[in-house]
Amino acid sequence: MQLTDNTIFITGATSGIGRALAEAFHGLGNQVIIAGRRRALLDEVAAANPGMVGIELDIADPRSIAAVADRLVREFPKLNVLINNAGIMPFDDPSKPLDDAVSQAILQTNLLGPIRMTSALIEHLKAQPRATIINNTSVLAYLPLAGNAVYSASKAALHSFTLSQRFMLRETSVSVQEIAPPWVDTDLIRKSGDPRAMPLDAFIAETMQKLAGDAEEIVVDAISAIRDNPGAGEHKLINDFNAAIIANPIPV
Ligand SMILES: NC(=O)c1ccc[n+]([C@@H]2O[C@H](COP(=O)([O-])OP(=O)(O)OC[C@H]3O[C@@H](n4cnc5c(N)ncnc54)[C@H](OP(=O)(O)O)[C@@H]3O)[C@@H](O)[C@H]2O)c1
Repeated sequence: MQLTDNTIFITGATSGIGRALAEAFHGLGNQVIIAGRRRALLDEVAAANPGMVGIELDIADPRSIAAVADRLVREFPKLNVLINNAGIMPFDDPSKPLDDAVSQAILQTNLLGPIRMTSALIEHLKAQPRATIINNTSVLAYLPLAGNAVYSASKAALHSFTLSQRFMLRETSVSVQEIAPPWVDTDLIRKSGDPRAMPLDAFIAETMQKLAGDAEEIVVDAISAIRDNPGAGEHKLINDFNAAIIANPIPV
């Protein structure tokens, strides 16, 4: 994507990766609108970055998404970048009965949230001369962490949705990129300084550098071997598969 001259809406920007991405884009002179549930943090981040605007959003609530999308289109008609970043990562154990409320919260936040947010803004984005949707998945989309089974599944599902979305938007002005972070030291679980976690600054620096190209997926070098686990050529396979289905449609 082009890193400058954008109007960017980023969900989950009250902390961690979202806040750091918002600040990196703000530093490059973009108009950045941040979202999250915690009003005090929205105000704090906006105050630290003059010109940034904070909007309250509960990505798990379809009414909140609809209201925010309406406001964005009205107040920021040049909005051309949507970064679906908000997420939660509760632990679970699929060898035992799961807490249904927790599973629902994960799927509402991590999967239906980005799907609904994109859906609410897609016609607006297509009307822009140049637009980008970025979905933040995870390395766990490719290598599930069994103790976060529903989380890993939500990210694998968002990866799958992203592949379909990219294909269906292939002839529009909207490009679709995926960021699949490694373990990054944020409050997602608990900021711990664990040496296995990538420091946030280093992650953002490498991610911004890779976002600048046309890469479909932004994967830091440290986890490229994990991403390659399903095998090379996945995009070609998916594009060829979908082209073949279009050429010979499934009867409906
Ligand atoms: N850190 C990692 O190791 C890692 C690895 C791979 C992928 N990721 C992904 O990166 C994204 C950001 O995570 P992070 O590591 O930066 O964690 P974080 O610091 O905990 O940030 C999560 C953000 O999501 C927002 N959020 C959560 N539920 C929300 C809701 N219902 N409505 C609106 N916003 C909501 C939070 O804002 P409020 O609480 O203010 O609403 C917060 O800004 C997530 O999608 C996560 O899955 C992280």
